[in-house]
Amino acid sequence: MRTYETIAQLRQALNPARRAGHRIGFVPTMGALHEGHWSLVSQARRSCDEVVVSIFVNPLQFGPGEDMGSYPQTLERDLDGCARHGCDRVFTPSPRQMYPDHTLTRVAVRRLGEPLCGQARKGHFEGVATVVCKLFNVVGPDAAFFGEKDFQQLVIIRRMAHDLNMPVEIVGCPTVREPDGLAVSSRNVHLDADQRSRATSIAAALGEAAEFASHGQREVPQLIAHVRERIAQAGPVQIEYVEVVDPETLEALEVIDQPARMCVAAKYGSVRLIDNMPLDVAGEA
Ligand code: PAJ
Repeated sequence: MRTYETIAQLRQALNPARRAGHRIGFVPTMGALHEGHWSLVSQARRSCDEVVVSIFVNPLQFGPGEDMGSYPQTLERDLDGCARHGCDRVFTPSPRQMYPDHTLTRVAVRRLGEPLCGQARKGHFEGVATVVCKLFNVVGPDAAFFGEKDFQQLVIIRRMAHDLNMPVEIVGCPTVREPDGLAVSSRNVHLDADQRSRATSIAAALGEAAEFASHGQREVPQLIAHVRERIAQAGPVQIEYVEVVDPETLEALEVIDQPARMCVAAKYGSVRLIDNMPLDVAGEA
């Protein structure tokens, strides 16, 4: 496994593989790598000849009130894990390498960045789309792997690639969970023991909603009320949103008569967690 700090070095290293027609798989990350990230790497490993991981904490996607400085930095452990999970190349650019001057260009996927997490995190998805677009231009992947855990992000990247004719396949990968259901996240380490145990109610509530829907409950307000109640019952929490949306347009649904995704954001103290699950109504065929 090789690591690269500059765009020029990585491009040069990938040229022979590209000329040889190898399929290049790409997993963009911000480091603090965990089982969720490794599942993307494994999926890339299975379907590609070369696996490239990037580790870059992107300043553009952090808002003024969000402390980028406290983002966990575990580079040595990350690189070790990358080697063990069969990555071929790791790109670890500095902020200066990615943003050498005052860049004026932004990639905005209109509308899709506004609902759900876009409400509390203004400009966040513009920062995400911009850096992912830049990374795609650096790596030139045939396929790029993103977790369903960050469902809105996945939808936005997919739409960006489609709208801008990027020659890359966007592959969505299932959410990796702890044994008790909590979605694996680098933020989980910031939860204290009580918060950690309360936070399991998010996945439990989503699972119950999916179960109700599969038994024919089509009324979204009922499903949302159940999820809110279930999460609040577990103890102190600030629920930011519970919504059911169309999985492509992210528009809110009132009735489940089509594919639907239920999405939750909730804060335990200062730790903001997100999760989501698909809802399928029984007897739709
Ligand atoms: P990061 O939070 O490091 O996540 C990198 C990738 O890992 C994302 O595609 C995310 O959805 C996926 N992931 C995280 N937790 C997961 C889990 N429990 N199960 C499955 N996949 C999981 O998302 C970002 O970084 C950044 O916004 C980035 C796309 C790199 C742009 O800066």
